[in-house]
Amino acid sequence: MDISTEINGAKLETCVFNASGPNDSTLEELETIGKSKSSAIMMKSCTLEAREGNPEPRYRDLEHGSINSMGLPNLGYKKYVEFASALKKYRKPIVASISGLTLHDNEIIIEAFNSSEADIIEFNPGSPNTIGKPITGYDFNYMDELLTAVMKKSKKPTGVKLPPYFDFVHFERMWNVLKKHKIAFITTINSIGNGLVIDAEKEEAVIKPKGGFGGIGGKYIKYTALANVRKFYQLSEGKVPIIGAGGVYNGIDAFEYILAGATAVQIGTAFIQHGAGIFEKVQNELRQYMHKKGYEKPEDFRGRLKEL
Ligand code: DHB
Repeated sequence: MDISTEINGAKLETCVFNASGPNDSTLEELETIGKSKSSAIMMKSCTLEAREGNPEPRYRDLEHGSINSMGLPNLGYKKYVEFASALKKYRKPIVASISGLTLHDNEIIIEAFNSSEADIIEFNPGSPNTIGKPITGYDFNYMDELLTAVMKKSKKPTGVKLPPYFDFVHFERMWNVLKKHKIAFITTINSIGNGLVIDAEKEEAVIKPKGGFGGIGGKYIKYTALANVRKFYQLSEGKVPIIGAGGVYNGIDAFEYILAGATAVQIGTAFIQHGAGIFEKVQNELRQYMHKKGYEKPEDFRGRLKEL
């Protein structure tokens, strides 16, 4: 059963790989992803300078997902340019995730990755956890400005990672920005920003940064993520690869994403909770479910969600 896919010329052995964020900051962690069945090696979102990130505790597993307010802890982009060379031996696409704190920072970082071994760039304009900064993806004019600069500089296939949208008007406004640029793919969704998890017994928040507010991931966000995949698939008329992320724990989750229109799926929270074996598990379950349904390849059902 062939579940391979292609994102702008980069071939992926399967359509399942790791999301940026979890366990992808150090070379050792990235080597673990290299050795796993993840079909690409996605790296932690990087900034110009190395960052310690927000004070701990800043991540908590929840019954059906996670909350985090990491605050972009990373080693600085130069390290990830180096890591891309070191990871080449795994013979799978290497994805740089770029989260510069200013437009100019993003230009510098993109330029560095142009002459790196990274195959693909995922531009991640907005972590919900950078203290003092709004979620960039909700500022449509600034997104346009950023994408103009980034896409002009980039010589690699470059996609954009988006926060979740909840209103059809906002999907359309974002799409009207995206369609002006040569976006290689859309990754949707980032965590649902600024949730609040409370420990009732202790009468306190479960993470420290921002008084307890943080990005929600895992099963809680799957339906929002599927809706975002579907909407951008429809708006782009299937012409821009959509990479789905949010609550993929098993093969049927992956199947639902493809049915909604996804070309590939990323695994974040479930990778933290179940380790690197999750990639193979999801791939095998997806193959089994496709077999049961009589499908031979993802193209047989991609985007073909039935409406009632
Ligand atoms: C962080 C969180 C995100 O959701 C993201 O897209 C980038 C960085 C973080 O807190 O480190």
